[in-house]
Amino acid sequence: MKKWHFSLMFLFAIFAYAEEIEILDLDVISYEAFIQNDPEAVSTLEKALFEKGIVGIRGIPEYREKLRQYVARAREFCALPEEIKESYAPNEGEMFLGYEKGKEKFKRPDGRWVIDDLKNSYYAYVPDSRENKWPKEVDLQSPYQDLGIIMAETAKLVMEKIDLIGPRLGIFLGDTPQVGRMLYYQKSADTLQDNPYWCGAHYDHGMFTAITPAAYFVEGVEVTEPIEAGLFVRIGDRFKKVIADPEVLMFQVGEFGQLATDDAIRATEHKVHKANCAQIERYAMALFFNAPFDTLIHSVSTLTQDARYGGQAGDPCTYQHWHEESFKRYIVKDDK
Ligand SMILES: [Fe+2]
Repeated sequence: MKKWHFSLMFLFAIFAYAEEIEILDLDVISYEAFIQNDPEAVSTLEKALFEKGIVGIRGIPEYREKLRQYVARAREFCALPEEIKESYAPNEGEMFLGYEKGKEKFKRPDGRWVIDDLKNSYYAYVPDSRENKWPKEVDLQSPYQDLGIIMAETAKLVMEKIDLIGPRLGIFLGDTPQVGRMLYYQKSADTLQDNPYWCGAHYDHGMFTAITPAAYFVEGVEVTEPIEAGLFVRIGDRFKKVIADPEVLMFQVGEFGQLATDDAIRATEHKVHKANCAQIERYAMALFFNAPFDTLIHSVSTLTQDARYGGQAGDPCTYQHWHEESFKRYIVKDDK
């Protein structure tokens, strides 16, 4: 009788989740069809990015293997003692490059600002740069760069295809590097009730973002993504869960992309839900595309109403201004 009761409770819990969680119908096109300019694939890609703000590409040569190597090395780095990892954090007055532990804040639905203290990151430019910091204990550099380059090259083709870069807007990336971010959400001691998110709802502030599906581990064993956890993207007034296998690389739109196109394309609002199990760890990689700092726009987007724009619709704004104002809003300052 007791056993029955338990099973029923378990089933009920699953149905309760299933009711709450809506799965996004993620559009995924094949890399082959994309580079062959297959009209159907290109139209699916454009429609997905303009209407949902997210699309996937499957079958990019070497991608899956490079992602696997990257996750393995990211796990080795994350397993290092905290004081070693901290030695790769930016020093006072230095840029953001290197290790970072929980520096972002986000607004909860109840209006409270919360720090994402379970989020660990490792920032580096892609392609590699002398400014990057790399650990000596673990070769994070090679798999990070190998994966980052694949992500960068594919994303640039996508951005060109939808005219986010190129002659139409007059924005060319030139030698502007991309910013890579290793994302690691560590085990949590608290409960879902304290904070249901690994990362609260937000928009990326740059032009565009490439993002890998996440890998999850419990006690060193890889597990499938729990239904309640992972990336959620806002479609209309609902957040929907994104499900993608490790063959897929995904792309999202950033706020400067929306500004530069006067709302023709919209920035993707997204968040990352925690797993119900506190022992679970999550690894992923994101690559952010900044515009060159001197990019000047006179946007009439609704986003010009955001104080970060620093003017009215039609007024000038450089990417550098937008970028710096965005950092001021979301990064937690050390009080030392
Ligand atoms: Fe994001």
